[in-house]
Amino acid sequence: MTTLAILTAAGSGSRLGRDLPKALVELDGFPLVLHAARRLAASGVVDSIVVTAPDGLVAVMADLMADDPHVHVPVQVTDGGPTRQASVSAGLALAGPDDDVVLVHDAARPLVPPDLVRRVVGAVRAGHGAVVPGLPVTDTVKQVRPDGDAELVTGTPDRSMLRAVQTPQGFARDLLVRAHRTGAARAQAEHLAATDDAGLVEVLGEPVHIVPGDAAAFKITTERDLWLASLVLQETNA
Ligand code: CTP
Ligand code: MG
Repeated sequence: MTTLAILTAAGSGSRLGRDLPKALVELDGFPLVLHAARRLAASGVVDSIVVTAPDGLVAVMADLMADDPHVHVPVQVTDGGPTRQASVSAGLALAGPDDDVVLVHDAARPLVPPDLVRRVVGAVRAGHGAVVPGLPVTDTVKQVRPDGDAELVTGTPDRSMLRAVQTPQGFARDLLVRAHRTGAARAQAEHLAATDDAGLVEVLGEPVHIVPGDAAAFKITTERDLWLASLVLQETNA
């Protein structure tokens, strides 16, 4: 049986505000999506990759992957959808018959350590249907509701029980398919927040497990994150 990684790269990167989609923005001379694909391939536990591309950029992404010797696993590229969830669904539709484990990874997390990829796949192969990397939260987090021109604090969750989650998230393929069909429909009908794939599994009432995340898998959202990523790369290449 084989492991497929869906690499979501179809977003526009509006918060980064460049004139090209975030996944194609360069870090150390290479697009973010290529860094991410290299690290997925380097894990040794990913058998193939499906990349979701922004409008009109399927061929550009496909050439990028085909020309890179470090991405030494088969890569398919497909059009993404209007939302991240739609992009993941589009990627999932290309899973092959032998793909029994599916990872979902964001191109916006280009520096994911291969070791983290192995940890997630290992936990799924060990029998957990849904596995998410998570880190302890260092900030105190407040729950709020709107209150006039400000917000009213309604509670302070116990920080020791909170985790900031990352990607890759790993799933038994059948469970992820069910989450994207039934879970997504239910989340929409009941106005439940499910901002990641694991959230859709939670809507089904199925267990989701956390494995330790890694600070290096941080997400690039703003220019500051990009600058931080280049510092991290300089440090590791030194
Ligand atoms: N993504 C996707 N399809 C979409 C939206 C997002 O494949 N319709 C991907 C992005 O390319 C990214 C990941 O999902 O790798 C996480 O999304 P995010 O960090 O929000 O990226 P963007 O949506 O591109 O950025 P922004 O929200 O600032 O526009
Ligand atoms: Mg977005």
